[in-house]
Amino acid sequence: MEATPSKPDGPADDDQLALPVSLPIQYSAPQPGEIITSMMTQNTYTMGEHIGEGYFGHVFGCTDSWDNRLAAKVLKPTLPHETLKTQAWDEFKKLLTVRHPFITYVYDAFEYNNACYIVTERCHSPLGELFAIENYDGGAWLLSIARCLLQAVDFIHINGMVHKDIHPGNVFTNFQSDAMLPHQQIINFKLGDLGIADLAQDVKPESTLANWMLPPESIEPTLFGVMDRRIDIYHSGLLFLQILIGRELQFTREQILEGAPRHMALQLPSPYSVALEKALRRRVEFRTASAKEFWRDLNSPVTPAIDFGRSV
Ligand SMILES: Nc1ncnc2c1ncn2[C@@H]1O[C@H](COP(=O)(O)OP(=O)(O)O)[C@@H](O)[C@H]1O
Ligand SMILES: [Mg+2]
Repeated sequence: MEATPSKPDGPADDDQLALPVSLPIQYSAPQPGEIITSMMTQNTYTMGEHIGEGYFGHVFGCTDSWDNRLAAKVLKPTLPHETLKTQAWDEFKKLLTVRHPFITYVYDAFEYNNACYIVTERCHSPLGELFAIENYDGGAWLLSIARCLLQAVDFIHINGMVHKDIHPGNVFTNFQSDAMLPHQQIINFKLGDLGIADLAQDVKPESTLANWMLPPESIEPTLFGVMDRRIDIYHSGLLFLQILIGRELQFTREQILEGAPRHMALQLPSPYSVALEKALRRRVEFRTASAKEFWRDLNSPVTPAIDFGRSV
């Protein structure tokens, strides 16, 4: 069955600062310095600059009255207003359900000036920005990122959900401050954007997914198997492949059906080749079964990966 890849979620356009100007008129983008109030919590937020864009929303920095650094996602008016409100409320509820140290912490959701807002903690930057660091060494980052991300994925799965949208634009580096020594910071990594996450029993081939990272089972379910939480294992495998290779990767449907990501993983050094080729298998039944298993594989003693050719 044909999937409907309708969410080309990924790196935002180059000239992000120009975006609010080009928004449709019924959308009132917040201006830097504007103070807005949530009808739900009565909290007030001082809005900052535009910091990012995905398929569904523009994201702005903001602070609350405690001076917490936050991020406000303002949903784009691409759908009827009532649908948009439901979408914002759903994303808020999903984030509330999966409160976890490695998932962006949600504070608020409300409507203001005909726009729907979701307020979360503000992270430093999406993982894709790591690749621009001078002398970037993916091997030095991988296990630290994987340890945070796979715990987040495990927790989402324990809560009966599938994220469905794990990629370098939705996983963030985050600096956490010491309350006594605010200039000393530690780094961790957080998964965000539960916009298209589904309950595990509701994941269907026609679910919306970014078409440059379609899991093979969403294109050919009869050949490769059912769509379930192992979509997140496949996408985590794709993300780790990008971290190790040091650049964002996009695959065509043909490449995905041929198993190109897994073939790239087989070229990596052990133990990454073993762990990633298993997570990137096209046939769901042969793929790494859980986030915990993926973490064990990444930490297993070195054994060479076996190339099973086209059978997996
Ligand atoms: N909590 C956050 N902290 C810092 N930047 C963020 C945060 N949330 C989103 N962003 C930025 O905004 C972009 C789009 O946000 P996202 O929640 O993924 O929206 P969408 O649902 O439209 O994909 C991200 O790729 C990132 O650049
Ligand atoms: Mg996103």
